[in-house]
Amino acid sequence: MSITIPEQEIELQKSYMDAVKRINYRPQKYFIVTLGCQMNVRDSQTLAGMLEEMGYTQAESKEKADLILYNTCCVRENAENRALGNVIWLKELKKLKPRLLICVGGCMMQEDGVAESLKRQYPFIDIIFGTFNYHRFPQLLYTAIKEQKPVVEVLDGCGDIAEGLPAVRASKYMAFVNVMYGCNNFCSYCIVPYVRGRERSRRREDILDEVKGLVDSGVKEIMLLGQNVNSYQGGGDEFAKLLRDVDEAGVERIRFMTSHPKDLSDELIASFGTLKHLAGQLHLPVQSGSDRILQLMNRRYTAEKYLRLVEKLRSVRCDIGITSDIIVGFPGETADDFEDTLELTRQARFDAAFTFIFSPRAGTKAAEMPDETPDEVKTERIQRLIQLQHEMSAKALESQIGHSFRVLVEGLSPRDDKKLCGKTERGFMVNFPGNNDMIGQFVDVRITAAGTNTLRGEAV
Ligand code: SAH
Ligand code: SF4
Ligand code: F3S
Repeated sequence: MSITIPEQEIELQKSYMDAVKRINYRPQKYFIVTLGCQMNVRDSQTLAGMLEEMGYTQAESKEKADLILYNTCCVRENAENRALGNVIWLKELKKLKPRLLICVGGCMMQEDGVAESLKRQYPFIDIIFGTFNYHRFPQLLYTAIKEQKPVVEVLDGCGDIAEGLPAVRASKYMAFVNVMYGCNNFCSYCIVPYVRGRERSRRREDILDEVKGLVDSGVKEIMLLGQNVNSYQGGGDEFAKLLRDVDEAGVERIRFMTSHPKDLSDELIASFGTLKHLAGQLHLPVQSGSDRILQLMNRRYTAEKYLRLVEKLRSVRCDIGITSDIIVGFPGETADDFEDTLELTRQARFDAAFTFIFSPRAGTKAAEMPDETPDEVKTERIQRLIQLQHEMSAKALESQIGHSFRVLVEGLSPRDDKKLCGKTERGFMVNFPGNNDMIGQFVDVRITAAGTNTLRGEAV
């Protein structure tokens, strides 16, 4: 069941936004560092939106900010180390700038004991908050400024849905829209269900209102977001219905992520053939190609079932681009299990895959499983997998040469500012010469060459 936070609570936060604006007697600047996935990126946009309502403007760097906010991730150990390393460095900055406000929120704060130990070890942090109460940030900020002492508020439980909060979007043409929050899957390696709570879906009308508002403001591409997006209101068919509504709302290109294979219903697969604006692209994490490991991971499908889904998707849309996540070195993974993963990777022909070495997360089942594979073996395995995927990606990229695709132009190419860049429907990034008034438009581009991860082309 999902509960929307009562309007009074949101109104209360809005009154705190006004109060913060009044209490700050000179202009203030903020800098947000976001770690982790798209869910955190979207939360940071709301936090930025609230800060701007409170009179803050974006700083060009941390050094120029009056308030620095870290939105943390804890999905793997290296994500946590990055967050901690960053926060420790801020201690030095605070010595130079004693009025600097340091705020730390996000998934890591929801882990057992983390907020308390952070408070103890790093008393220079001003605000610590979690994922379930980020909408209360204005009140926490007001309290921290007014009382001039650290504020810690991390809530247990599952979290309700906050509607009607402002947001600062990164792009005028592409936007993230949350459709659901949390996860019920409890994959044995994963900490997300513990730090993001149970699944809860936004009301259809709230999603459609947001989508329509974005379309009216000029947004052309929307990415529907959820940790397990295709279990929207309990399963793939409900999600397929929502997609139909979004397809009719005037959005030119729709994508969604992340999908769990177990909820990829036939109706949802059929959407790729019937919906006019749904991009032919899907991120469908497989995690492993070994049935034994998939079972230990609690993924609830087999390699064969996964490959059958891939086949079905391609029968509906032959040029669909499929990407994946794969974990190497799960506890007990044998050389044979790993060979199965390589084999699946060959057969699935992913356009790209994010590969990770298993990272034990306290409190998850997999962290308790005996793991005898030496680190060197895991490293060697992941390198082989990366090499294989590299070859598969190269083939996929090369297959685009000579064809023309509609590209939504995002801006100047980061590597070559004389070129523009944008994505094809399938999700490939293309660099091509063009003029600045193409930014934010769909342009037909003929692909002339393939690089390691991107394509090159020319406008036609
Ligand atoms: N909800 C999404 C994404 C979750 S996190 C999904 O179900 O796919 C993104 C990716 O991080 C996962 O797909 C998984 O491949 C990886 N991951 C999660 N926990 C991990 C862990 N403990 N060690 C290594 N990789 C992990
Ligand atoms: Fe984690 Fe699995 Fe949920 Fe994805 S589906 S967030 S991997 S528990
Ligand atoms: Fe990380 Fe939280 Fe996303 S743990 S991957 S930021 S949901």
